Amino acid sequence: MPIHIENGKVRLDHPKGSSAEVLLYGATVISWKTIVDGSEPTEHLFLSKKAVLDGSRAVRGGIPLVFPCFGPPSRPEHSKMVQHGFARTETWKLAKQSDDGETLEVHLTLDPNPSIESVYDKPFSLTYVVAITEKTMVNELRVTNPHPSDTLEFQTLLHTYFRAPMEDVRVEPLQGKPYFDKTTMTERVENRELVDVKTFTDSVYGNAEKKSKFTWPGGGIEIESFNYPDLVVWNPQEEVASKMTDMEEYGWHHFLCVEPASVRDFVKVTPGGTWSGKQIVYTIPGRSH
Ligand code: BG6
Repeated sequence: MPIHIENGKVRLDHPKGSSAEVLLYGATVISWKTIVDGSEPTEHLFLSKKAVLDGSRAVRGGIPLVFPCFGPPSRPEHSKMVQHGFARTETWKLAKQSDDGETLEVHLTLDPNPSIESVYDKPFSLTYVVAITEKTMVNELRVTNPHPSDTLEFQTLLHTYFRAPMEDVRVEPLQGKPYFDKTTMTERVENRELVDVKTFTDSVYGNAEKKSKFTWPGGGIEIESFNYPDLVVWNPQEEVASKMTDMEEYGWHHFLCVEPASVRDFVKVTPGGTWSGKQIVYTIPGRSH
């Protein structure tokens, strides 16, 4: 079966060798593999060996979904929530699946439930689409506002942990972009053509290009995003990661988070409307990490 669900996890197995795994918990994609160099499938996502996968806390790795607030809540309507909101710690439903031979696609949904209602009183409906082809992965979040008269406002982000050699990666094109540097809490403008993450990096870029990429000698990843005006680049380095109980030792050497986002401003969805944001991820041919 190209798509099957087992023990709270949806598996997509493409006939051309690519695959993905999505936990119902948080709709967290925890694995995406493709065949890069003609032999064994290569894993492109980082999942900490100490990640907790039993549904008791957000997953350290893969693609946790951030909704409806980014970081600690900054608005009264989000004040009862923990950092990054509830989407990554709620159990989603598998609502739809399809396979046309080229693309395997699943739709996961999340709607208000008593646990969400205890921290958030706005009506909403979320659909998360994960699709893979032989060479690509698509992640699309759709947010519907069913309220008859109130606008729904939120922040959201695809918190993607890519497996990559931290020392060697360079992200572009970010030169000239405004960014909020969360390590110093200052607003800055990027002057580097190629951005590295060799020091603690937590940068929230605005006015991001539709296509971003990061490369290292012999490989890389390209991300095409739709409707995400911002891009977060994050690597915690030892100073932050060593305090995370679910980060494997030296884990920060093996990943880079590049996160299409809508966080510098709040997305506004009119009554009855739907917003959607999407990333398409491609590997840049070459040696894998
Ligand atoms: C990033 C934020 O997106 O997520 C960081 O910019 C944050 O500030 C990081 O530390 C990880 O967050 P968490 O809650 O998963 O530890």
